[in-house]
Amino acid sequence: MTNRTGTELSHLERTVLDDSLTPGVAGFDRLRLAEVPFVPEVRLHLAVDPIVLGARMEAESGAALAPLFWASAWAGGQAVSRYVLDNPDVVAGSRVLDLASGSGLVAIAAAVAGAATVTANDIDPYALAALTLNARANGVVVHGSCGDLLAGDGDGAEVVLAGDVFYSQSLADRMLAFLERVATRGARVLVGDPGRAYLPYGRLEVVASYPVSMMGPPEDAEIKQVHVLQPRY
Ligand SMILES: C[S@@+](CC[C@H](N)C(=O)[O-])C[C@H]1O[C@@H](n2cnc3c(N)ncnc32)[C@H](O)[C@@H]1O
Repeated sequence: MTNRTGTELSHLERTVLDDSLTPGVAGFDRLRLAEVPFVPEVRLHLAVDPIVLGARMEAESGAALAPLFWASAWAGGQAVSRYVLDNPDVVAGSRVLDLASGSGLVAIAAAVAGAATVTANDIDPYALAALTLNARANGVVVHGSCGDLLAGDGDGAEVVLAGDVFYSQSLADRMLAFLERVATRGARVLVGDPGRAYLPYGRLEVVASYPVSMMGPPEDAEIKQVHVLQPRY
């Protein structure tokens, strides 16, 4: 983990609610360690209410922060994690890259499933801090990488996983180009997505679909199905 996330990590550590010390506290402005609904093998520090937690953190840091994507387990990340845990051969013994890792859910699932090494990449230093907290809570080793890797070809990763990355046109365009480049050099690529607005269906094929209800953050309450997809070859 880079030192760059040290400040963010100590900030997050101060927002974790310890139920044994303060039982019965609602903690809307806190993180709470909880099982992931569709991936109960993994526990994450998730926001009780991401909006209220974001307001608290901005007030404490005195600066505007990026949306707290790392404080929720997104439907796409839950799907690709479920797939990897149910099909461990996909990652077992391999070098894995979890792109746009957020909380680190997918990376942690890959580590639990037996990957040789796992790197989690995100542009948000708070995501890398959340990864540190969450990897520690699950007793796995995941390397953190903070920055934008989309102009490259995945740094030799044999498996590239990405959960919920097609939520904006500009990111979707760059992500698709990256994932196709990585797949062309021979890496296995899997993405998880509930059908976001910019999911390029025509360039991907569905590997698995899961019926779901109430996964991820509150705004995803209406999602009924989530897919694992790979580039068309
Ligand atoms: C909707 S969240 C998904 C997080 C996680 N994969 C999951 O499924 O729970 C999208 C994440 O993409 C990250 N992100 C956006 N642009 C990125 C880029 N160019 N490179 C790496 N991560 C990026 C955001 O910071 C955010 O953490």
